[in-house]
Amino acid sequence: MEKIKYTVKIKRYNPEEDRSYWQDFDVEVEDSLTVLELLMYIKDKIDSTLTFRAFCRSAICGSCAMVINNRAGLACKIQAKDKIKRGVIKIEPLKTLKPVRDLVVDQEPAFDKLKKIKPYLEPDPKVVPDNTKVESLVMPEEFARYDKQTDCILCMACYGQCNAIEGNPEYLGPFQLTKVFRFLMDTRDGMDVKERVKLAEDNGIWDCVQCQMCFAACPKGIASCEDILELRRVAKDIGEDNVATRRAKFWFESVYATGQIDKFNLAKVALDNEKGDKIKENLEKEFKERGIPEDEFGPKPFDGIEQFQKFIKKLEKEI
Ligand code: SF4
Ligand code: SF4
Ligand code: FES
Repeated sequence: MEKIKYTVKIKRYNPEEDRSYWQDFDVEVEDSLTVLELLMYIKDKIDSTLTFRAFCRSAICGSCAMVINNRAGLACKIQAKDKIKRGVIKIEPLKTLKPVRDLVVDQEPAFDKLKKIKPYLEPDPKVVPDNTKVESLVMPEEFARYDKQTDCILCMACYGQCNAIEGNPEYLGPFQLTKVFRFLMDTRDGMDVKERVKLAEDNGIWDCVQCQMCFAACPKGIASCEDILELRRVAKDIGEDNVATRRAKFWFESVYATGQIDKFNLAKVALDNEKGDKIKENLEKEFKERGIPEDEFGPKPFDGIEQFQKFIKKLEKEI
């Protein structure tokens, strides 16, 4: 096996001094190491105080999630040599959780959010037998709807890469919303659909910015961003007056009136709360700073809008 030389740049955290700092370790190691094996080598041969979490070394236990070259992932699943860029690998703790020491983060806030969404099945007595001697059957085609989501190992790589959390620390998080989706799809679940969806709404599905970084980070290929879109669809279908229905109605009205989406007022109307007011206030401030006149904050009807409106009316009659 070939040996290669490179520098491992690790972001460490010292809780005694409440201080984060970068430390470089120059290594000459076999080219077959995973990032976890590399960290073990450094701990064993160079600095025994280096602290990180790991257990199974097989991408099963979910302990070793960290950020490697700005992308969250499992240290035991990633080959170190694939991450060397100009002779350096950069390793840091998950960004959206506070470090406890070096690469170990405090996972409690993310688990607290998971508890909020009630991540368990509430057995529907009409479907689930109360007799433990009788099997509670799930058909393969039914299981296929949430099979992928059950692969989640709670590693928090998705959470560590989530842009919505960076903007709103109260945001529930990708794997938590995937859990909502997973139980919503399970026909054995007895919790009312509205109740399940409601658990996902507050600081949840409507705050996701659809950056898809959760999917990019997930070692199990789970697309929480897609699950969130599906939850939004369900929320729209069951709701009479919620964010989804208000948003859909406002989109239609603004497109009908002007031919464009009124992004300036969209969040205020759809969210209908202080957060919506704040988004509009911030937009207003930003537009003023950019010197945009007030009457141009929202869209104006384009030339020929009457033709477009006639076309919409015609479509409405035909549907
Ligand atoms: S798509 Fe949504 S949940 Fe996924 S990382 Fe982006 S903001 Fe977070
Ligand atoms: S969804 Fe993927 S990245 Fe997120 S916690 Fe589960 S396994 Fe880890
Ligand atoms: S050590 Fe268990 S997932 Fe990496």
